[in-house]
Amino acid sequence: MNAAGEEGDEGPVLSVRGLSVRFLLSGGRQVPAVTDVGFEVAAGECLALIGESGCGKSVLASALLGLLPGNAQAAGEAWVRGLDLVAADEGTLARRVRGRLVGLVPQSPAAHLTPVRTVRSQLAETIRALADGGVVTVEGAAERAAFPLDHLDRYPHELSGGLAQRAATALALVGDAPLLLADEPTTGLDRDLVDHTVDELRRHVDAGAGRALLMITHDLAAARRIADRVAVMYAGRIVELTDAASFFGEPGPRHPYSRGLLDALPDRAFRPIPGMPPELSALPDGCAFAPRCSRATSSCATLPPATDGTACHHPHLLEDLRA
Ligand SMILES: Nc1ncnc2c1ncn2[C@@H]1O[C@H](COP(=O)(O)OP(=O)(O)O)[C@@H](O)[C@H]1O
Ligand code: SF4
Ligand SMILES: [Mg+2]
Repeated sequence: MNAAGEEGDEGPVLSVRGLSVRFLLSGGRQVPAVTDVGFEVAAGECLALIGESGCGKSVLASALLGLLPGNAQAAGEAWVRGLDLVAADEGTLARRVRGRLVGLVPQSPAAHLTPVRTVRSQLAETIRALADGGVVTVEGAAERAAFPLDHLDRYPHELSGGLAQRAATALALVGDAPLLLADEPTTGLDRDLVDHTVDELRRHVDAGAGRALLMITHDLAAARRIADRVAVMYAGRIVELTDAASFFGEPGPRHPYSRGLLDALPDRAFRPIPGMPPELSALPDGCAFAPRCSRATSSCATLPPATDGTACHHPHLLEDLRA
């Protein structure tokens, strides 16, 4: 990293530090949707950001793309290839970030694609806008995402969910962005298509070219399938950040919320976490998970510091995880 805090090509592809986003509502109310989030994603790596609905995952994604609504305030830093996405102005975001530094694989590809234009025409337009020197052809862009060439002249409504997802992925890949950002890329797909879609995303990371993938999902099976590391978000904060093998395998997660997420899976204990996530506009002091946590004590009324990747006063220890 240089003196300006910029990452060179050798550093992580994405480096997020102290990122916070709050929404300002009428009457002076505030919603802290993302609070003091920090993580890195390296070239060739997939980081899965997981957590229940409403915990701030998509707000974080919007912050990285400069797509926050007008009533949002962002603070902190998010560096990609020497550019701080949080500080970038709209012109820079449009010219250098969206599609070029960050390729977005959207949650609802059907809604993301323009309904009145064929896949071919949308790919051609994106290539004109993003690819330098006309080296990329529509067919080449489609093939990269395994989109069938004989479907290029179809309109989005003529595509299955899986093919719409591939069309959206092809668009996201055109600009050769070092960071692929996939926000719930498997919503509405059946299990086989989920597996196929995330395998494809993994393939784009493994294909070299120094690409990294930040995959936002509430689908733990999808995360388990392709992630190298896992970040668990609760009430706007990352409460655990660890490698995927130890998270999903042995010794398992250390944060009680992470363990609750895994225990809720049908192929595990199938035991839901009691209670509901808190209203972000009315978070308790201290650990936001305390009202739902069986390990909570009076010390949890103060905010737990993140130690060894886990923000908890009483994390599960290796010994009791093995017991
Ligand atoms: N435009 C907005 N105005 C106020 N609050 C918002 C706005 N958009 C999102 N939020 C708040 O941010 C929280 C996180 O939303 P989101 O990031 O979409 O969650 P998810 O983790 O499901 O992607 C929501 O629970 C909501 O309270
Ligand atoms: S800090 Fe306390 S309440 Fe929060 S997860 Fe850890 S043990 Fe539970
Ligand atoms: Mg979301």
